Amino acid sequence: MNAPRDATIDLQLTVNGHEAKARVEARLSLCDLLRDSLHLTGTHAGCEHGVCGACTVLLDGQPVRACITLAAACDGRAVTTVEGLSGPLVDRLRAAFHAEHALQCGYCTPGMLVSAVDLLERKPGAEEDEIRRDMSGNLCRCTGYVGIVRAIRSCAQG
Ligand code: FES
Ligand code: FES
Repeated sequence: MNAPRDATIDLQLTVNGHEAKARVEARLSLCDLLRDSLHLTGTHAGCEHGVCGACTVLLDGQPVRACITLAAACDGRAVTTVEGLSGPLVDRLRAAFHAEHALQCGYCTPGMLVSAVDLLERKPGAEEDEIRRDMSGNLCRCTGYVGIVRAIRSCAQG
């Protein structure tokens, strides 16, 4: 039998390296948990049905769309949001986004950065066509993508 829609679940997870506990409704999204309960508002809610990529976070190191990931599915797992990104690659990406004018309103930017980190960790020497393909799940309504692709390419090796 399925749990009632208003059932609550006690969660314990790691968010940006810190332990977090929460009591959540079974249907709560990871995006709402991060934004409303943990006040990590860098994870943006755009379409809220898995299309735009604004809510992209890393779950156990893999990019996921937080708006269509149930918080309850994250019990015992590790989440990294844009606030928790760090290291030399992240520093270079942030500087490159600035230098290449890879954002205008900035709404897509947290998801772009999370996806770009994942991309360059998997493919450090990614060429432009790979960047365009692998970033195609992140939508931007402002920039036309040219600056975003140029910024990510500038951080690729080779
Ligand atoms: S807000 Fe999650 S994919 Fe658009
Ligand atoms: S900079 Fe506005 S949606 Fe991308």
